[in-house]
Amino acid sequence: MARVLITGANKGIGLEMTRQYVEKGDEVIACIRNPQAATELNELASGGKVTVETMDVGDPESIASARARIGDGSIDILINNAGAVGGAQQSIDDVDIEEWHKTLDVNTIGPLLIARAFKPNLAASGDGKLMTVTSQLAASTWPMGGMYIYSSTKAGVSKVCQALALDWKDEPITVALMHPGWVKTDMGGPHAELTAQESASGIISVIDGLTKADSGKFYKWNGEIHPW
Ligand SMILES: NC(=O)c1ccc[n+]([C@@H]2O[C@H](COP(=O)([O-])OP(=O)(O)OC[C@H]3O[C@@H](n4cnc5c(N)ncnc54)[C@H](OP(=O)(O)O)[C@@H]3O)[C@@H](O)[C@H]2O)c1
Repeated sequence: MARVLITGANKGIGLEMTRQYVEKGDEVIACIRNPQAATELNELASGGKVTVETMDVGDPESIASARARIGDGSIDILINNAGAVGGAQQSIDDVDIEEWHKTLDVNTIGPLLIARAFKPNLAASGDGKLMTVTSQLAASTWPMGGMYIYSSTKAGVSKVCQALALDWKDEPITVALMHPGWVKTDMGGPHAELTAQESASGIISVIDGLTKADSGKFYKWNGEIHPW
């Protein structure tokens, strides 16, 4: 049985990964910013395998208090899944600077603070795995312009995790990145290619197969390597 921490576990891909880990018999610490409103997650938690914790990933104090409540127990898998698009004003001529700063906190800085806070928990596992959900828009191969806020903050977190993989090369922690596909969620919209179930099961199977030699790699949900 693995102990898994997932951020943004109240809906979309995060909720689906929570459901699938529970089905596998694993224990999930589901970190979300508004537990009162998380009806589906709370229902899942009534089965006893999910602990719901409040964490706003854009707020360093909220991350620190969640870490204090969760404590020092070992965590085998940590998935930095929570993410924000960054609003509608993302074109070169109309970019919302305030929203850009907020989205940087959520998409780029939060995942680093979470990784740092829970490093002892991951190390205590002896074979900790840190998976961060980034995006194909973060890669230099993405062929479209625009989306300045989303693409730059996701490119930022990809670089953060590449650096973490190097800084933690002697730690028993594997650091990897994931493009989850274009997924039918509130973020991906109804015309996306994959269901949240398909994306979540792909991500879980990539995580299952990770070894320390994979630290620093960027994957697609189907297990292929994503170009940087
Ligand atoms: N769907 C796609 O096609 C696609 C493609 C590439 C990458 N991704 C990435 O996949 C991840 C999951 O997205 P999704 O598709 O499942 O979208 P989603 O259904 O919109 O879910 C986003 C999750 O992130 C949480 N979140 C946002 N800001 C937060 C904050 N400050 N603190 C804590 N949680 C916060 C949301 O919580 P609230 O309900 O409280 O807002 C929600 O749980 C994201 O990192 C996203 O960028 C998605």
